[in-house]
Amino acid sequence: MAKPRAPTSSQEPTVSDHALQPQGPDQPREHAFDGIEEYDNNLPVWWVMMLYLSVAAALIYVLHFHFGPGLLGPPTLPPPKRIDGNGYTEAQLRAFSKDPARGAHGKMLTSKALCVTCHGPELTGLVGPNLRDRWWIYGSNMTDIVLTISKGRLNGAMPAQEKNLSKDDIADLACYLVQLTRAEGFKDSPFKKPDPKREKETPIDY
Ligand code: HEC
Repeated sequence: MAKPRAPTSSQEPTVSDHALQPQGPDQPREHAFDGIEEYDNNLPVWWVMMLYLSVAAALIYVLHFHFGPGLLGPPTLPPPKRIDGNGYTEAQLRAFSKDPARGAHGKMLTSKALCVTCHGPELTGLVGPNLRDRWWIYGSNMTDIVLTISKGRLNGAMPAQEKNLSKDDIADLACYLVQLTRAEGFKDSPFKKPDPKREKETPIDY
């Protein structure tokens, strides 16, 4: 038991003598390390509250983020907006292209939507490229064709149709083009020749 060291009259009190005076709840502990003594007090309430709060926060964190709905890791981005097939997949569009009714509707639209003014009355090419041959600038995938018709190309030289036509109209136009090109097969088109610098041979073989 450490003795409280009261200052004697012969000795000036030191700072530590003062600090270890038994005052109120401050009681020195029994041990001393190299002459250093310490009080045996309760931890301050704010300190204990911080500890409990940290433990609670850690628990909530682990439960929420590791086992609950919290987000961990790279953010989950929303799926990219599909613009190429207007929401239809390549497989769906190819299935549509087998339907003669869709083709017939597409054919009607080529004059109604004025495709024929640039691509020719038979779509064999005028200002715009020949759409009956097996050469394509933007590819023969139906999603490419739908994208071209919807959004336009070459800064509007090929005008976007998405404001004038529904997505099914555009799909039907693509069906008609595919049916035409499929019927043409691998024959060389006697009409507007492809531009070998821009058009690649990608026959429609589906
Ligand atoms: C104002 C003239 C114009 C009109 C109208 C027009 N096109 Fe075009 N179209 C073009 C031009 C020019 C290109 C070539 C763009 C390029 O060189 O990048 C093109 C390209 C295309 C292509 C891409 C061909 C390829 O080889 O990849 C498709 C498909 C197409 N047009 C379909 C249509 C359809 C369907 C319509 C009617 C809804 C239509 N176009 C109306 C001018 C037109």
